Amino acid sequence: MQTAIVTGATKGTGKAIALKLLELHYNLVIVGRTAQLLDQLKSEIEETGGRCLTIEADLGLKKAPDEIIRDAVSHFGQIDVLVNNAGMSYSGAITETDMEIWNRVHSVNARAPFFLCKAAIPYLKKSFNPVIINIGSVVGFKGYTHQSAYASSKHALTGFTKVLAKEVQEDGIKVHLISPGGVDTDMAREMRPDIDTEGLIQPDEIAEIVEFLVTRKGRGTIDHFYIRRQSGLAFD
Ligand SMILES: NC(=O)c1ccc[n+]([C@@H]2O[C@H](COP(=O)([O-])OP(=O)(O)OC[C@H]3O[C@@H](n4cnc5c(N)ncnc54)[C@H](OP(=O)(O)O)[C@@H]3O)[C@@H](O)[C@H]2O)c1
Repeated sequence: MQTAIVTGATKGTGKAIALKLLELHYNLVIVGRTAQLLDQLKSEIEETGGRCLTIEADLGLKKAPDEIIRDAVSHFGQIDVLVNNAGMSYSGAITETDMEIWNRVHSVNARAPFFLCKAAIPYLKKSFNPVIINIGSVVGFKGYTHQSAYASSKHALTGFTKVLAKEVQEDGIKVHLISPGGVDTDMAREMRPDIDTEGLIQPDEIAEIVEFLVTRKGRGTIDHFYIRRQSGLAFD
């Protein structure tokens, strides 16, 4: 049975993605900091007959990526799908952003996915359908006021995902970036209390894109999905 790792699976988009991969019969490795939420999701998964390993980890710590891959492989013996979904937002002008917060945002949003990919590649190479999906953001391409630390971390994620896709293409590993606009989760409500929640993308819509990417058989290469909220401007 194939195994998928989903970071930031305790709530929001990551939880929706984990439940979608459960429907597709993957063994699940779910990662987050909140033990209680991890345990709740594990119970939900096991009630439907699924298999699940919880890993309580802070992705801001240097040791986390290697430990997650080591534990996933020692439990399930293989890795077929890696979804780097966990992320943290930060809102503040450049003049208010200190080095500590900048480092923290970059370590969770860019460094951890980078080193999770690096550590997973040897195992993904052995899979018959290896897929890496990185959850970026519209701010991985654009700039919004007061989001410089968050935007630069997502630009870094965009940049390394593009290179990774080329570097592992010959190994048959498919690498995709999904860049959403506002998604209806705690993060959007905290970061953008000004926007109308009616038009926000639902977490399940991101999970459906993940389903498409892990199940598709076509020859063509899909690098990037950009999905924006309803009131976002077309081609903006
Ligand atoms: N919501 C939006 O509008 C939006 C738009 C574009 C892109 N995104 C991206 O989508 C992804 C999912 O975000 P979301 O909207 O679902 O946010 P969310 O509801 O706030 O969920 C964030 C997830 O990341 C985990 N996480 C955060 N910091 C972590 C850390 N240091 N170590 C381990 N896990 C950590 C959280 O788990 P714990 O708290 O349990 O650790 C939680 O499961 C993020 O990469 C985000 O940047 C979101």
